[in-house]
Amino acid sequence: MLASIKSNHFQYESKKLAMNYFRVAIVLFGAQLLMGLIAAIQFLYPSFLFEVFDFNVARMVHINALVVWLLYAMIGSVYLLLPDETGIETVGIKLGKLAFWVLTAAVAVVVLVYIFVQVGPGNEATIWLINEGREYIEAPRWADIGIVVVVLIFYYNVFATYMKGNKTGIVTVLVADLFALAGLYLCGMFFTDNISMDQYWWWWVIHLWVEATWEVFVGTIAGYGLLRILGAKREIVEMWLWIEVLMLFGSGILGLGHHYFWIGTPEYWWEIGALFSALEPVPLVAMFVHVLYDWGKEQGHAEAGQQGHAVNNTPAMAWIAINAFGNFLGAGIWGFFHTLPQVNIYTHGTQFTAAHGHLAFFGAYATILIGMMYLGIQGAHGIKKLTMTFKTKMAIGLIVFGVLGMTVSLTVAGYEQVLVERADLGGGWDAYFIAQELPWYLQAQGWRLTMGLVTFTGFLFLVADLLTIGKTEAAREGEVQAATA
Ligand code: HEM
Ligand code: HEM
Ligand SMILES: [Fe+2]
Repeated sequence: MLASIKSNHFQYESKKLAMNYFRVAIVLFGAQLLMGLIAAIQFLYPSFLFEVFDFNVARMVHINALVVWLLYAMIGSVYLLLPDETGIETVGIKLGKLAFWVLTAAVAVVVLVYIFVQVGPGNEATIWLINEGREYIEAPRWADIGIVVVVLIFYYNVFATYMKGNKTGIVTVLVADLFALAGLYLCGMFFTDNISMDQYWWWWVIHLWVEATWEVFVGTIAGYGLLRILGAKREIVEMWLWIEVLMLFGSGILGLGHHYFWIGTPEYWWEIGALFSALEPVPLVAMFVHVLYDWGKEQGHAEAGQQGHAVNNTPAMAWIAINAFGNFLGAGIWGFFHTLPQVNIYTHGTQFTAAHGHLAFFGAYATILIGMMYLGIQGAHGIKKLTMTFKTKMAIGLIVFGVLGMTVSLTVAGYEQVLVERADLGGGWDAYFIAQELPWYLQAQGWRLTMGLVTFTGFLFLVADLLTIGKTEAAREGEVQAATA
């Protein structure tokens, strides 16, 4: 990706900016994984880095880095697809570039403060300057306000471009979805000293992001990806997109109830949460079928001038296909497992939740956003047909195997917690620690660490591939052209 700055085939500044967002995303992805490894070691050896870099800090940076890198890659994807869909350069692109640098500087400061100021009082100054204490979105308030300003600039860019350029179905959905996505962030910004109220609104950000607005977002970029990679028919892609929007919002919004079972909210949430969240996998199945259907249908119709088959970017296509499976498995299946209150009363907050969290975030978001990075590289180097290298395959194999391995290990650990800590010992304070010390739990944690190392090795292949594939593939294509000329 670094090389792509120099050999830039992009006509549009918007796409160059997209690549900058992708670069920061990958760096943060690496930081996320390193923090995960530290936290995983601490599960097995609790004295590891004790009082130097404690578990709570490693865990916090792990999941905040996750959210931030996914958001970076999402913004990158929008800047990448906007000129193609609207047919024009992004409006206000200079402002967009400025916003990128401001945001990146702010993220760097926030992360450094997390790392250097690990302990402190829980007062107003801490909330403003150090850490807001809301899981996944811990940024202090000064950064919160900064993020809102930067996002407003981004939204202005998208909206103004939409108003001026072509209004395709994909961008129409995108414009509406981004409005909701950005607006929801505000729900996680104010302070209340009532923990039930705090959790009530905090879930508006977390749940309504990952189970409503982000899912719709993924629908739009999957649609765009299929159009570019397969030459899929726009009518088919967009028709499904609208159906999915309807279904995702239909189930996802009230599905919020599955987080309101035990936090002090009224009991009618049991029924509402159970019914609507159980419906949530339906659109995920539809999306899964949609991607494979389109793929199968369009596959045979190679465009003139293309040899063999119609896939013109195999790494991106592979990651999009993995996304379809991963979203279905991680969010749909692993989510459904624990979404009924009758089950959740036992599984709530166990490693089972972590198993679902890992596979869902990875399957639904990390995968397709990596795919978008490969689409970016293809454009940056003007490559007609980007094919997988050895490194692409190693990255896919190891990352997917590693994350699946971690998920299975955590599921086993969660199963042990449910049986021993919850069912057998009644879920008290002592029960928690007894269950954590039994061999089944520790073995599962050992396997999670091992599979985490596999994932990290895959990540190293991914970085190596992203840095080199553009150049090598462009050179290969040049040779083929020279030979046929
Ligand atoms: C891509 C979409 C999804 C992502 C990224 C995701 C991620 C997560 C994460 C990270 C948590 C843990 C939150 C915490 O720290 O407390 C969680 C909790 C939960 N998720 Fe999902 N999820 C997704 C979709 C779903 C779906 C579709 C369902 C249901 C069918 C579901 C059911 C649940 C439930 C019931 C909990 C609460 C677990 C507990 O009580 O400990 N999720 N999800
Ligand atoms: C090197 C690989 C990784 C390791 C070793 C690792 C390890 C960990 C650990 C130890 C925790 C804390 C769990 C707890 O508090 O009980 C955690 C939480 C989490 N990680 Fe990872 N992780 C890795 C990769 C990933 C990836 C690739 C994703 C998603 C794309 C991810 C998403 C999450 C989420 C969402 C949570 C919060 C889960 C919850 O509280 O329910 N991690 N991870
Ligand atoms: Fe949820």
